[in-house]
Amino acid sequence: MNAPLDPSLILQTAFGFWNSKVLLTAVELRLFTKLADRRLTGAELGAELEMHPRGIADFFDALVAMKFLDREGDGRNAVYLNTPGGSHFLDEGSPRYIGGIMIMLNARLFRFWNDLPEALRTGKPQNEIKHGEKGMFEVLYSEPARLEQFMGAMTGISRVNFEALAEKFDFSSYKTLCDVGGATGLLCIEAARRHPQLLCTSFDLLEVAPIAQRHITDAGLSDRIQTASGDFFVDPLPKADVITMGMILHDWNLEKKMHLIRAAYEALPRGGAFVAIEALIDDARRENVQGLLMSLNMLIEFGDAFDYSAADFRGWCGEVGFKRFDVIHLAGPSSAVVAYK
Ligand SMILES: C[S@@+](CC[C@H](N)C(=O)[O-])C[C@H]1O[C@@H](n2cnc3c(N)ncnc32)[C@H](O)[C@@H]1O
Repeated sequence: MNAPLDPSLILQTAFGFWNSKVLLTAVELRLFTKLADRRLTGAELGAELEMHPRGIADFFDALVAMKFLDREGDGRNAVYLNTPGGSHFLDEGSPRYIGGIMIMLNARLFRFWNDLPEALRTGKPQNEIKHGEKGMFEVLYSEPARLEQFMGAMTGISRVNFEALAEKFDFSSYKTLCDVGGATGLLCIEAARRHPQLLCTSFDLLEVAPIAQRHITDAGLSDRIQTASGDFFVDPLPKADVITMGMILHDWNLEKKMHLIRAAYEALPRGGAFVAIEALIDDARRENVQGLLMSLNMLIEFGDAFDYSAADFRGWCGEVGFKRFDVIHLAGPSSAVVAYK
């Protein structure tokens, strides 16, 4: 006899935005940062976060049940404390803080995803550019606070991938690396830290250079990492043995993807490696939920941009002249796909 059908996955997914909003709100209220390594009662923590008493127990205990917060004891005198994971990833004082992406999810994407039906009907972006003429990066970067928010978001989502790339990709025969769309310089920082022979360039739009320089200086790597500014659709890419693009190709339509792949080919020597890092969709498009949702997010953000599989990448890079390919799993849903010239 067949097992009875179970609706729990349907219901869990349908209600998923409740969980999401509770976690995103906790990060926005800086709960994990303010709590740090203290133990506070609900009343004390609620007062620090300027909360009305009505929500205090429900909000904190929901976070306990979701395993993002710990609690010692029950009732009024119970104290709340950070979990090891909360301290590591959600306290702004931690070097491994990933809350930047959650701040951006809460401030922007939570609202924009409400218009998914319209995106599906029209194929048009649903973000800040919906009613204007300008491109997303132009709009985002017109205000320093938004630029910083976007840079923080990218750090949150990419750090574990870049650490994994620096460990898993064989950099030993290469001397130079250029990270295209390098944002804060994080990929260069992680690669330079682990591979002392590498000289790196973080290439991005002019507005981003001071932010990258600050991070490179803070990491003590100014002698081996430089910044270069330009528009990758107008300017040639700096020449290097390895060209990396972290979450760059997925931001664009096929014509622009091909422009970037050709530009990478031009900038590499024979034997050089072109590495793209993405939440790569599995070739059969059945399994990597995050990769497929990321591609829908590209519809929300850009309209005609989309995520892709290793098979897609091999096809495009083969057309341009790349000879050999490799896929390296990084962290969670993300992989690096490599084309050798
Ligand atoms: C999605 S973010 C990826 C950041 C980083 N590579 C990562 O994976 O975390 C895209 C990056 O491309 C840069 N970018 C966008 N348009 C560009 C252009 N026309 N020329 C150069 N960089 C550009 C943005 O400033 C941003 O840093």
